[in-house]
Amino acid sequence: MAEPVGTCANCGAATATSRRKHARYCSNACRQRAYRQRVNEPVTALDSFIGRDDELSCLTTLRDNRVLTLIGPAGVGKTRLAKEFTAGQGVVWVELASESNVVRACATALGVGEPALSALVCALADQTAVLVLDNCEHAVAECAALLEPLLLGCPGVRVIATSREPLRVPGEVLFAVRPLPLRRAVELFADRARANQLGLRIDNSEVLAALCARLDRLPLAIELAARLVTVLPVPELLARLDDRLELLNRGNRTAAERHQSLRAAIAWSYDRLSADEQHVLRCLAPLPGDFGLDVALAACDLPADRVLALLSALVAKSLLTFSGAGRFEQLESVRLYGRERAFAGDQPGVPAANLEAVPPRVGPRGETTKTADQ
Ligand SMILES: Nc1ncnc2c1ncn2[C@@H]1O[C@H](COP(=O)(O)OP(=O)(O)OP(=O)(O)O)[C@@H](O)[C@H]1O
Ligand SMILES: [Mg+2]
Repeated sequence: MAEPVGTCANCGAATATSRRKHARYCSNACRQRAYRQRVNEPVTALDSFIGRDDELSCLTTLRDNRVLTLIGPAGVGKTRLAKEFTAGQGVVWVELASESNVVRACATALGVGEPALSALVCALADQTAVLVLDNCEHAVAECAALLEPLLLGCPGVRVIATSREPLRVPGEVLFAVRPLPLRRAVELFADRARANQLGLRIDNSEVLAALCARLDRLPLAIELAARLVTVLPVPELLARLDDRLELLNRGNRTAAERHQSLRAAIAWSYDRLSADEQHVLRCLAPLPGDFGLDVALAACDLPADRVLALLSALVAKSLLTFSGAGRFEQLESVRLYGRERAFAGDQPGVPAANLEAVPPRVGPRGETTKTADQ
């Protein structure tokens, strides 16, 4: 491990020496920030960006792909990572969360008068351009229908998309955005908590780690939780996390509606599921965060091949992950949301007895304390 030898030219943190030279910046994020300051570009966000050095490096190696989709669950940081990654590159940003007419949104962003595919192809045919399609999940079919002819007709155009679900167009490369590493999640919580309460002392690192692990290390959930330090001590906040869907409800005023609360962020995905997908999500809610296929099949009162297809749809929509070890994993916040919907009597329901079967608990490192297979 490299010894600290100097200070970062951007943020002043300790830097290490690399094999070839002393590092001028402590991270890729700081290197990019310094670059932006040099070219006098407006900052992309008003609050600090934490971590993601590895992701930024990896994205750099993938930048020549025609369609690069940053994929991941609600609030994991896809849009923010895309912003940091594309800063300084003169990209055309197309925000789709509030607009499902993708052609019209692209035409507006590009300043093309006529909102038609042919007009877009005509305008971009001889151009070199990067389009960022942000928050595509509710318009994936429209995005796919636009992108294939657009990319075929415009060889100099590349697309970076952010979505909870793949666009499924030829040539698409998927880049999975994972929750922050625990250390970075804690850093983000401390940063936002101190901004909400200047001078706040947070010295119990075990409690902070447990809090961030139970919030699935998701930046959105962490930012929403950090708002509460003005009314709840951190241990108290941790103790109340079973009620997070009620508690985490004060987003930035300027944020999109679905980022005003954790419930709204997950509902944005849930409301777009088919009735059967919603049913399976509710059936999975009593299970622990990590379970095998046999347990999933037993939890859902549907034929096995149907359940398999529905599990696969939930994985594609970032509501479930499938690990290499053949296990399914569910974020604690998603499980709590599924329980809430089941108790709310969404049809067809899950027996209340099942819902009590396994309490939704994870340890400080994100590990489950009880599994249904045990
Ligand atoms: N690495 C990070 N450092 C600091 N803040 C972050 C980081 N990643 C995300 N955030 C913040 O967390 C919040 C949610 O992030 P973001 O909007 O990028 O999530 P998302 O994955 O695009 O969510 P959605 O699926 O709803 O579109 C934002 O306020 C964002 O600025
Ligand atoms: Mg987003």
